This record gives sequence, structure tokens and C-alpha cells, in this order.
Amino acid sequence: MNLKDRWAVVTGAASGIGSAVADKLAGAGANVIVADLQVDKGRARAAAIEAGGGRALFVEVDLTRPESIAAFADTVLTRVGAVDVIVNGAGWGRTAPFWDGTPEFWQQLIALNLMGPLHLTKALLPPMIERGGGRIVNIASDAGRVGSLGETVYAAAKGGLIAFTKSLARETARYGIGVNCVCPGPTDTPLMAAVPDKVKDALIKAIPLRRLGKPEEVADAVLFFAGDTASYCTGQVLSVSGGLTMVG
Ligand SMILES: NC(=O)c1ccc[n+]([C@@H]2O[C@H](COP(=O)([O-])OP(=O)(O)OC[C@H]3O[C@@H](n4cnc5c(N)ncnc54)[C@H](O)[C@@H]3O)[C@@H](O)[C@H]2O)c1
Repeated sequence: MNLKDRWAVVTGAASGIGSAVADKLAGAGANVIVADLQVDKGRARAAAIEAGGGRALFVEVDLTRPESIAAFADTVLTRVGAVDVIVNGAGWGRTAPFWDGTPEFWQQLIALNLMGPLHLTKALLPPMIERGGGRIVNIASDAGRVGSLGETVYAAAKGGLIAFTKSLARETARYGIGVNCVCPGPTDTPLMAAVPDKVKDALIKAIPLRRLGKPEEVADAVLFFAGDTASYCTGQVLSVSGGLTMVG
């Protein structure tokens, strides 16, 4: 895979899966813009990539605030003109019965997991269209494909992100832009660390490969969609879930 001289924005790149994606893209030669709310961890990730011989810079963004996304896009586009790859990786959820959730909590989930990618993609897309090429990879969740107990609104937001992927793929194909989606299953990241051990053990028992995924394993799928390897793929959804979900 050769992404030399391509600019890639990776949201959520300060931690977990996004961090592994940033590393993989940089390893393939891309210049990576580490986009995250966590300034110290984001800067450290960019510095680590640079220390390893790659190219990266950190730009702060709060994906739940459209004005922060606009400022982020302005900084990025002023600096690089157009980006070649967008990875919408940031996301968050918390398990609780649907009927205990407040509308404010729903708003938080939808703002980050659905509206954030919409705003960011809209902000970065016009120069991509003008240039006539690019790749967008959305990190959704198997919750959005098959549902997830106690993650009902998170699943609704991720299901929306999957549907967004497919329709945007149809809209942008004529401009040479591929839009695809990776759905992680249970993956060993700081987000998963918040899940009680009892629930984690039950999940592992249900996974045919009998273990959690590693962030790097999800990142490999993102790397595939981000490069020319996926030149004839658009609007596709790939689960990386140890076989937990097998969707026809
Ligand atoms: N870990 C799993 O088991 C799992 C399963 C399915 C889907 N996912 C999805 O994979 C993606 C990555 O998850 P992860 O497990 O690596 O989580 P993580 O918590 O390790 O990383 C998420 C990153 O998103 C950033 N972020 C959160 N809110 C933000 C905001 N408002 N603006 C900008 N950045 C923000 C965080 O600072 C963090 O760096 C998410 O979209 C998540 O929904 C994860």
C-alpha cells in the first residue's frame, strides 16, 4: 500500500482504533492530520508518528460543535488545500436501558456519532470533488448493523452513519470518491475498558474467534478502504468482529 504524499484526516486519532489507523496510514506514507478533542494525547500521537519517521500534525476539534469543525476544516484546508482521505473514527457510547436515557444523552450520542461525521465530511468534501478523487472511511459499529443490548440510541446513530455511507457513495462516485464503512466488533480499546468484565467475558464467549479484536486489526480494514486497494469498492460495509456478526 502506498499512500505517499496523500493527506489523511483521522478523527479520534488520540486513542484506540483511531490511533492505530493514524499509525497504519502514516506507515503507508500518508501525511496524517491527527484530529481529536484530547489535546495532550493527540499531540503525543502526532509526535510519536514523526519520531517513527512519518509525517503527522495535530489539529484540535470537538466534533459535537459545528463551529469547532468549521474552524478545524479552515485550518486544515488552508494548510493542505485538499485532503485525500477522511477517516471518521471518533465515537463514543455508554450502555444503559433505552428508557433510562434522557433526550440530552441521546443528543450527545447523535452529535458525536452521526452529526460530527456529517459536518466534517461536508466541510472537507468540496475540494475533494473539485480535485476529482478521494476516499472516505466511516467507522460505525456492528451495533448499527445488528443492534446491541443497552446501546439503542448509539446503534441508531451508527446505523445512520452506515446509511450515510451508502448514499454518499452513490452521490460522489461520479467524482472518483469512494465511501466505505468499517464496523468494529468488540475491540480492546479504552472505550471497551469501561465495559464491566462480566459483559466482556460473555461477549468473548459469543465471538467465534474467542477474543476481543485489536485496534490494529480494525485499522487494517480502514487502510484497505483508504488506499487504491479498494479502487472498485464503494458504499460497502465491512465488519471486523471475529465472526460475532455475519451479515448477508
Ligand atoms: N472499541 C470497540 O469495541 C468499538 C466497537 C464498535 C465500534 N467502535 C467505534 O470505533 C471508534 C473508535 O472507538 P475506540 O474504541 O477506539 O474509542 P476510544 O475511546 O479509545 O477513542 C475515541 C477517540 O474519540 C475522541 N473523541 C471523543 N469525543 C470527541 C469529540 N467530541 N471530538 C473529537 N474527538 C472526540 C476521543 O478523545 C478518543 O481519542 C468509535 O467510533 C467507536 O464508536 C468501537
